[in-house]
Amino acid sequence: MERYEGKIVWITGGSGDIACATAERLLEEGATVILSSRSEERLGEECRKLEEKGYEGRIHYLAGDALDYEGCVKTAETIQKTYGRLDVLVCSQGILIHKPIDVLTTEEWHKVMDVNITSVFYCVKAAVPIMKEQNYGRIVLVSSIGGRRGRPGVGVNYAASKAGLVGMTQLLGYELGPWNITVNCVAPGPLAGRMLSSLTQEHIERLKEGTRIHRLGKVSEAAAAIAYLASDDAAWTTGEVLDVNGGLQY
Ligand SMILES: NC(=O)c1ccc[n+]([C@@H]2O[C@H](COP(=O)([O-])OP(=O)(O)OC[C@H]3O[C@@H](n4cnc5c(N)ncnc54)[C@H](OP(=O)(O)O)[C@@H]3O)[C@@H](O)[C@H]2O)c1
Repeated sequence: MERYEGKIVWITGGSGDIACATAERLLEEGATVILSSRSEERLGEECRKLEEKGYEGRIHYLAGDALDYEGCVKTAETIQKTYGRLDVLVCSQGILIHKPIDVLTTEEWHKVMDVNITSVFYCVKAAVPIMKEQNYGRIVLVSSIGGRRGRPGVGVNYAASKAGLVGMTQLLGYELGPWNITVNCVAPGPLAGRMLSSLTQEHIERLKEGTRIHRLGKVSEAAAAIAYLASDDAAWTTGEVLDVNGGLQY
């Protein structure tokens, strides 16, 4: 039997690289997946690509801004009404503005904190009542190596937001365990894809050299870790962080 057969999965940050790779991996394993993020156009495009790969009928999207709490509640409730349950939530939205603290503005601090942590809180808060009712839930947050240790070239806003997700994971793993809801987190290192496109080639080369495996990660490698933590193979793992970074040391 497929690991995700019959599972209803909501992936936020849904038009992004990690979200789409995770959707594909979970679809392969039998899930029904609903992607959400702001850009209806990109969501539609990503869904079409997945449909063309043979997943028509199991891949859907609901557009919305994760910073709109009422909108998050509506999305979670629509999923429950339409598909009967909400088994898995993967929160993959995120942005970066990497600048030294003396250059970083207060607006840039808030922008990153809002998307990277407040909107994740909104999505989780919207899903939890449904998961409690089911006495079942799997939540996976997407942190970053930037929230795990001090690193060159990372903004304090990004580091604080991603470290905040680790705290959220640990606390919620503890709080929600009695309802058979697990909460875990992956912390990827640098992955080839859209997010790194704002960095200089020199910065990217330094990142590659810093890994023990001497290459950037693949989004499919982050997706594989998410697929493990959101599955029942990890049913007795909660409040944990899984680093997926090729052994990046600095
Ligand atoms: N890629 C990496 O190397 C890497 C490494 C470590 C950690 N991470 C983390 O992994 C997560 C996903 O990264 P990625 O590489 O997949 O990035 P990505 O391709 O840039 O995707 C991020 C997605 O977040 C969505 N988003 C941004 N603001 C939003 C909002 N207010 N409401 C709803 N959705 C919003 C965007 O979709 P819309 O524009 O459609 O809203 C975007 O597609 C992020 O949290 C990132 O910090 C990535």
